Formats: sequence, structure tokens, C-alpha cells
Amino acid sequence: MAAPHAAGDPTELERVLRERAQATHRRPAPEQPPALSSPIVGRSEPIRRLLDQIQRVASAPRTTVLISGESGTGKELVARAVHELSRPHGPFVAVNCAALTESLLEAELFGYEPGAFTGGSPKGHPGLIASAAGGTLLLDEIAELALPLQAKLLRVLQERTYRRVGGCADLAMDARIVASTNRDLSAQVDAGLFREDLFYRLNVLSLRTPPLRERLDDLALLARHFLTRFAAELSRPAASLSDQALARLRAHPWRGNVRELRNVLERAALFASGAAIQPEHLELAASEPEPDHVPECVLPLSDRSLRTLEQTLIRRVLADTGGNRSLAARILGINRATLYNKLRALGLDRATSPAVSGTRHANDLAARAIRDGKALVA
Ligand SMILES: Nc1ncnc2c1ncn2[C@@H]1O[C@H](COP(=O)(O)OP(=O)(O)OP(=O)(O)O)[C@@H](O)[C@H]1O
Ligand SMILES: [Mg+2]
Repeated sequence: MAAPHAAGDPTELERVLRERAQATHRRPAPEQPPALSSPIVGRSEPIRRLLDQIQRVASAPRTTVLISGESGTGKELVARAVHELSRPHGPFVAVNCAALTESLLEAELFGYEPGAFTGGSPKGHPGLIASAAGGTLLLDEIAELALPLQAKLLRVLQERTYRRVGGCADLAMDARIVASTNRDLSAQVDAGLFREDLFYRLNVLSLRTPPLRERLDDLALLARHFLTRFAAELSRPAASLSDQALARLRAHPWRGNVRELRNVLERAALFASGAAIQPEHLELAASEPEPDHVPECVLPLSDRSLRTLEQTLIRRVLADTGGNRSLAARILGINRATLYNKLRALGLDRATSPAVSGTRHANDLAARAIRDGKALVA
């Protein structure tokens, strides 16, 4: 039976657009969607617009959503908000498309039958699409999806059915697909790196998370939010922010966006130890990255192996970017998948992943498979 809500069905699209138009007339822009487990903080115009769009997207609970925005701008937070407002009783499952090899990702997404892989579980695996039934599946960093998997995902979105690896039954998909990316996906299409048909399938409803530099009016509110949270975690009174420190924050370029702000404030609150945060407590990354400049003597002569040099450099760049892996990869002149591989190979994966909560499951699976020598190959 054809699903009445198929994402690309023009009548469905018309209905969603009509509902959006009606909603524009009915509702003033909301301050905040109700009862989110992690609030989207901000009162600036770009955030108000985003909150309003989230409400509208939530009213179409099965339509595919594409969330784009720079790293650290809250794409995963927005995906969770969309989920909580539209399919609150189902699971939220996130997978990082950049963190897994093509064969691992295929097995993770679609699941596999018993015996489909050397080293796979003898019981098989239901797959993340099945795990997200009734809820939402976030395909994080969708631009990194390999072309053969793009073709398979397109089929799933068109048919709303999928097949386990090694299986022959078509299984119905009952998860809303939300994809996110910090790349310009249409430019990826132009460059031949992303399928145009898949782009349009994903981009039925789109949301853009604004960079922090476009909403500096939210800085004080965000700072208060994070300082209150850190204080609650440590059962202490929240640190305040001096006017001078706030002015310093406003002047910073925030290439790592909200994640960078959160990390800077977490360190500053510790340094200030109870007093108001002053500019000298703020460790802000240099305004321009200097990819060619490696300090001449970063290591003692006794330990200058390439491995140690890579570990030191990667740690340093991640610290400078507030844990922002996209930016770190750009500064290091490698792509994100290569950075993830290096983090794993150099044993830096856990030590340097402050903000991969939702995608940790996928990363853990990859790490475990690699550790166990279970590269899943068809
Ligand atoms: N508007 C916001 N209000 C409160 N917290 C926010 C907001 N935007 C982002 N954050 C916080 O900033 C951090 C980064 O957010 P998130 O992981 O959602 O970003 P992202 O866009 O998915 O980044 P990446 O592209 O690197 O994966 C998280 O701790 C998140 O809770
Ligand atoms: Mg993310």
C-alpha cells in the first residue's frame, strides 16, 4: 500500500505548504517551543524565525527534513527539538555518516541477516532504521555519505521500504528521516559529490541554524544559560559575566559557534572560581587560524616520532577550536573522515570528543568493530 504521506508526493507537499501558510496567519512567532528537554536559547530575529519554522516542521511528522548550518550552531539540538515536538513517544536515533566506513554504515542503517558478514553477530542486527521506528533517525553529516549508499538511501526515501543486508524481504520504514550537514549541499551536488535526486528528496523541508556571529544579541542570554548549567552540575552559585568580558565575547569571530562559546565559558567559570568572569579568564582562539605555523619546538628531542607529533598537533588544534572537528579538519588540511580515522588510530577519540553525544553510538560501534577486528565486509 502506498504511504499517503510519501515525502515527494506533490499533494503531500502542497498540504504541508498550505498548513505552513495557514500557520503563518494563525500564530505569532513563538518564543520557545514548549517543553524541550534541551532548550534552544535565544531571542534574536534569526532564532525566532528558526523556532517558528521548527514548530511548522513539527506539524508534518513524517516529512523529511534537512538541517544545514555551520559546525556548533545547534543542528543536533534542532533535530531533537523537531523530534520531541513531532514524534515524542518514539526513539531519537542519530548516526554520524562520516564516522563509519561504507560497509559498516550500510549494516548499521539497514541491519543485516544472520551470517551476512564474517564476524557479524550470529543473530543478525535489526539496524538503525528499525531502531528508530515510531521516532526519528538523524543522519548527521549527510554530505559524507558515499555515493553507493546515497543511491540506497534514495530508494528508501522513495519507497519507504528497505532491505537488511543479506535479506530479501522489503521492510516498511516507520521513522522520520532528518539529515544534517555543515556543508553547502547544493554546491556538493554541483561538484558531482552528492546526488541531485537525493538532495531534493531530503530537502522537502529545510531548516538553517544561524551562525553565532549573526545573532550576537543572544550572547548574554546564552552565557547565562551555560553558566547556570555548569553551576548546577557543580552545585555552586552561577558565575556572572563582567561587562568587559561580555564586550570581549562580542568582538570574537566565533568560528566554532555556540559549542566554542560553551567551552570558553566552562573554562572561564573554573578560572574565575566564584568571582565575576573578567576578560583575562577568557581563553579565546586566535582570530585567524595559522595552518602553516607549527611552533618550532613542540616536542622534546627524545620524542619526535610522527605519531607523537600528530597527536600533539591534533590535540592542540582541537583545543584551539573548542572541540570543533570540522574546523580542526580544515585547519589540518584533511577531511573530517580522515580526522575521525586519525583520532581513532591515535587513541584520541574519547579524550577529544566533548560534544558528540548523539552520534557516540555510531562512533562506539565503529571503534568496537575496529578493535575487535570485525571490519564488516560483504
Ligand atoms: N541555541 C542554542 N541554545 C542552547 N544551546 C545551544 C544552542 N545552539 C547550540 N547549542 C549547544 O552547542 C553545542 C553544539 O550544538 P550541536 O551539537 O547541536 O551543534 P551542531 O551544529 O550539530 O555541530 P556539528 O556540525 O559540529 O555537529 C551543544 O552543546 C548544544 O547544546
Ligand atoms: Mg552535529
